[in-house]
Amino acid sequence: MFDNTYFPKAKKFWQSGKMYEWSQPTIHSMTHALHYGTSVFEGIRAYKTSRDPAVFRLKEHLDRLFHSASILRMTVPYTKEEITESIKLVVKENKLDSAYIRPLLFYSYGNLGLLPKASPVELSIGAWEWGAYLGEKAEKGVHACIVPWRRIHRSQFNMTAKLGGVYVQSAISGMEARSKGFDEAIFLNIEGRVAEGPGENIFIIKNGILKTNNNAESILEGITRSSLLEIAKNIGIETAVGPIEKEELFNADEAFFCGTAVEISSIVRVTDASDPNSPEKEYSIGNGEFGAMTKKIKQTYLGVVTGNLSQYENWLTFVFD
Ligand SMILES: Cc1ncc(COP(=O)(O)O)c(C=O)c1O
Repeated sequence: MFDNTYFPKAKKFWQSGKMYEWSQPTIHSMTHALHYGTSVFEGIRAYKTSRDPAVFRLKEHLDRLFHSASILRMTVPYTKEEITESIKLVVKENKLDSAYIRPLLFYSYGNLGLLPKASPVELSIGAWEWGAYLGEKAEKGVHACIVPWRRIHRSQFNMTAKLGGVYVQSAISGMEARSKGFDEAIFLNIEGRVAEGPGENIFIIKNGILKTNNNAESILEGITRSSLLEIAKNIGIETAVGPIEKEELFNADEAFFCGTAVEISSIVRVTDASDPNSPEKEYSIGNGEFGAMTKKIKQTYLGVVTGNLSQYENWLTFVFD
């Protein structure tokens, strides 16, 4: 019933304690989460290393999954250790060298009142081979569009959790940006400063200083973001954390998106379409090319995730250990 065209190499998934063939339907259309977005999820990657595949920062992803679940008042029916084992199993069963891994906790079938009082919490885990999130074009750098929608503000909702329903704003804005020919969207926050991408954090580089914002700016503080701040310091790059004004982005020497799915993707052009009543304006970031410092950070990051830099080995969970 379900083919795997957009899920390369996906053969099986795990749900509530059992492995299923990828094509097998397992949920009822009256599932609570399907109607109200009452789910939480993680996006995790495993990379091919010289040993066996290794999951990057699994502990941090599971901590965030449980944090997200607590925001949605879910009682997670598994321990972190059990989920770790199930994730390893899914990567193994699909015979993947590298994988994007998607654990999803959701209020399942039981009732359809807004309060999921008779809907049990279920967990499913899928994994497949997912290449460049922003396409091959990302190798050269992407053209992002600042969309008119402002990122949901941290005073309006808890933006530290990965709640399914909140991603409707990301999905719509991403579609809007692409329908106008851009590679990705950028949100400003309600204060009018740079927030984040629909599924990415943003870094800028100016005069050799690597800067990003934090959750005071209504962003999800990503695990890639915090890893990069640490890696950058270790390779001698000065870092700063604080609000990023729109003009700082336009005048940056380099800028990039980062996140588990996107990894590191240079932003080489930005179109400001944030005000529907003013004409759009296009800016080249730096010299409009994938910058040298972004390249260095990306290379180091790829060295870290693939286990080539032993000082970061405690960030890796080997699938066959
Ligand atoms: C809205 C949003 N911001 C930032 C990120 C980057 O987070 P991470 O690096 O943990 O993948 C993601 C991806 O999970 C995201 O969905």
